[in-house]
Amino acid sequence: MYGDIIEKIKKERGISMEDIKVLIDEQKIQDKVTEIAKRIEKDYEGKEITLICILKGSSFFTVDLAKKINGNVKIEFIQVSSYGSSTVSHNIELKLDLKESIENKDVIVVEDIIDTGRTLSYLLEHLKGRKPNSLKLCTLLDKPERRLYDVKVDYTGFEIPDKFVVGYGLDVNEQYRNLPYIGYIGE
Ligand code: IMP
Ligand code: MG
Repeated sequence: MYGDIIEKIKKERGISMEDIKVLIDEQKIQDKVTEIAKRIEKDYEGKEITLICILKGSSFFTVDLAKKINGNVKIEFIQVSSYGSSTVSHNIELKLDLKESIENKDVIVVEDIIDTGRTLSYLLEHLKGRKPNSLKLCTLLDKPERRLYDVKVDYTGFEIPDKFVVGYGLDVNEQYRNLPYIGYIGE
């Protein structure tokens, strides 16, 4: 698991900028976000869209995406615990719930990365129970090699190899979310 690699790097010398290599630069991210926004705009013409941002990781992506969609967009936030700071994923729990009802709304869940698919398969099932008019999933990054749970993704930014990534919202122990690009740690 990635946690082991990261724990090891941290114990030995901490993670510094030298450990992070660029995977997707800022311009490529922004171009991709524009492209996804245009697809969403077309698919939801004339409809109000509710974007659900999964805190904290997808906050950067959600905000950029919302700004690029020319239309009626609402933003809601939800937080579920997934990785925690240790290596093994424990049971997923809802840490922060939506503030508004999504009943009869056209909802797009916005995620930073789909890894095993565990978080999303749980969350989508849960949100379906709240009777939205439609429910789609948009992720900036996808690591298909790591998938354990079947989740249908409607909008994908980039499929990436099995690497631990940071930046543009993604963290390693809360660090490096603020990088404007996606970097990776390790080999
Ligand atoms: P999943 O439930 O295994 O799909 O994991 C999804 C969550 O794990 C993401 O929303 C991230 O918070 C976290 N995660 C998975 N891979 C990475 C990574 O490479 N870097 C940082 N966080 C990750
Ligand atoms: Mg996340």
